[in-house]
Amino acid sequence: MVLKNEVVVKTENLWKIYKSGQLEYPALRGVSIEILRGEFAAIVGPSGSGKTTLLNLIGTLDSITRGEVYLNGTPVSKMKGNQLANFRNKTLGFVFQTYNLVPYLNVLENVELPLIASNIPRSKRHEKARKILEQLGLGEKLNKMPNELSGGEQQRVAIARALVNDPSLILADEPTGNLDSKTAQVVASILKNVCYSGVTVIMVTHNLEITKLCNRIIYLRDGVVEKEVVQN
Ligand SMILES: Nc1ncnc2c1ncn2[C@@H]1O[C@H](COP(=O)(O)OP(=O)(O)OP(=O)(O)O)[C@@H](O)[C@H]1O
Ligand SMILES: [Mg+2]
Repeated sequence: MVLKNEVVVKTENLWKIYKSGQLEYPALRGVSIEILRGEFAAIVGPSGSGKTTLLNLIGTLDSITRGEVYLNGTPVSKMKGNQLANFRNKTLGFVFQTYNLVPYLNVLENVELPLIASNIPRSKRHEKARKILEQLGLGEKLNKMPNELSGGEQQRVAIARALVNDPSLILADEPTGNLDSKTAQVVASILKNVCYSGVTVIMVTHNLEITKLCNRIIYLRDGVVEKEVVQN
């Protein structure tokens, strides 16, 4: 469900220069993109082209060298400390290649974690986490530990955790990178379905099969946008 003209993410002449000692490495060199509400967008490009860097700047996980990121119209560089943390917790959901589940918490507890940070009472937390896990086909796995799950199941738990706070934007860095091609399709389809409810998903991927599900594909090379394709 792409609602035209509602820009959720905008980057304006975005630069990221990593500095270590005397060395400077420009990982992003003037990236300007716009992503609309409800879009399933892919960021693709060779290793080292700046995909993770771009996703991290959009997700306010790293500092901007130059330019600006606007999330729902708000320039992120103007947000500070608590305001930023609050915004991140309420508005953004993150999914990573390696799932990043907490190994000593069960499935339900992992998904409840973001709700604890939002001060949601315990019974409500259980209910919300369970509902979303059931929607993702994990209703039978609530008490399992992460190491008792397959890779695809672990990633679905991670997606449930990213969704439980009703974010407007999901950022996923190679979410299918550790999965076989069939499971990768399942996980990507789940992310696409998420978009139908008006959530925006931006996914870094190497999997060209999966980009077929995306309605916007941004090709990065050497820190610049080489090409952008909008489809269906
Ligand atoms: N913390 C850092 N310090 C210095 N250089 C960095 C840092 N993080 C990334 N880089 C460099 O910036 C460039 C872009 O890195 P980035 O991780 O964004 O690439 P990527 O497109 O995600 O690659 P991959 O497909 O391998 O994950 C690379 O050349 C990388 O070496
Ligand atoms: Mg990367």
